[in-house]
Amino acid sequence: MRILGIESSCDDMAAAVVEDGRRVLSSVISSQDAFHQAFRGVVPEIAARRHLETVIPVVEKALTDAGVAPGQLDGIAVTSRPGLIGSLLVGLTAARSLALAWGKPLVTVNHLAAHAWSLQLSGVFDWPHIILLVSGGHTLLLHARGPLDLEILGSTLDDACGEAFDKVAKHLGEGWPGGPAIDRLAKTGDPLAIPYPRVMLDDAAHRYDFSFSGLKTSVLYHTARLARKSDPTASDIAASFQQSAIHTLLEKTRRACRDLGVPRAGIVGGVSANSLLRDLTRGDGEIEWALPPLSVCTDNAAMVAGLGAEVFLRSGPATPDALRPLTRNPDARKVV
Ligand code: KG4
Ligand code: ZN
Repeated sequence: MRILGIESSCDDMAAAVVEDGRRVLSSVISSQDAFHQAFRGVVPEIAARRHLETVIPVVEKALTDAGVAPGQLDGIAVTSRPGLIGSLLVGLTAARSLALAWGKPLVTVNHLAAHAWSLQLSGVFDWPHIILLVSGGHTLLLHARGPLDLEILGSTLDDACGEAFDKVAKHLGEGWPGGPAIDRLAKTGDPLAIPYPRVMLDDAAHRYDFSFSGLKTSVLYHTARLARKSDPTASDIAASFQQSAIHTLLEKTRRACRDLGVPRAGIVGGVSANSLLRDLTRGDGEIEWALPPLSVCTDNAAMVAGLGAEVFLRSGPATPDALRPLTRNPDARKVV
């Protein structure tokens, strides 16, 4: 089954062709970082306008790279939720128009479930497993019992983890997005220079939730001192912040694995590109960690096309109701 995937839920326009859910024939991503950099965050209006200009060229490139003509596709999958409304509308409208023009069936997928599928693009990662989904917009712990059976165990009470990286980077005078900059700066700093808080939220109600605002405020206190040229250095702050944030993420994931008796965990989303996180998950005797290749950590359409094949097999083409874009995941307890 050969599926064209289209992803435009935030600021990246992406298209990909994937065969049988796992074989990536092409994956094209058009980044908008240059357009949002000056604002240090995604401006929804700019994102939607840029998507309008790039959607067709990106789809055309994905088909050309894959060596696949529209007639050779078995269907189209598009992200319909959650995301920025204008961004989602562009992808959905393009996908509906192409499906109509080419006479192909269409399915919609949830962006969070698609990230979970990114673990399957380099081979089968068996269910059940725990998933830590960490990006600029989401921080979630999921219990994955199947590709489309994703229970939400916890989420962030304030900032998303990637957002905290972005804000700390801003205060250290680094560019946007800040995650890669902190990652780089931390390599020359002392991760034990400052004992930043590791907020574990041990009470039953928040056992699997996250909070990064306390950590962020502690870091801002040090960046203010940095301006007065006293200790510590920017590299020490970056390394100590990263140490606290990444250890908290991994400890919470380990906690879910132990509590649920599931010794397998995958980490997806932009923050899973972090080098400390990747180092710490290597050679762990307790948990089998799965991290997708860097090319599918951040937003991409291969994960959408791959999951799309599952949706086609399980429930067939989309009903008219599913074609509506939704800004939020409609259920607090599961990804739907
Ligand atoms: O998944 P993603 O590309 O976009 C969404 O937010 O959906 O994630 C982007 C986030 C940004 O906040 C960025 O700073 C963070 O992922 N990020 C990183 C690294 N690379 C990207 N955070 C920590 N370390 C990295 N190496
Ligand atoms: Zn994402």
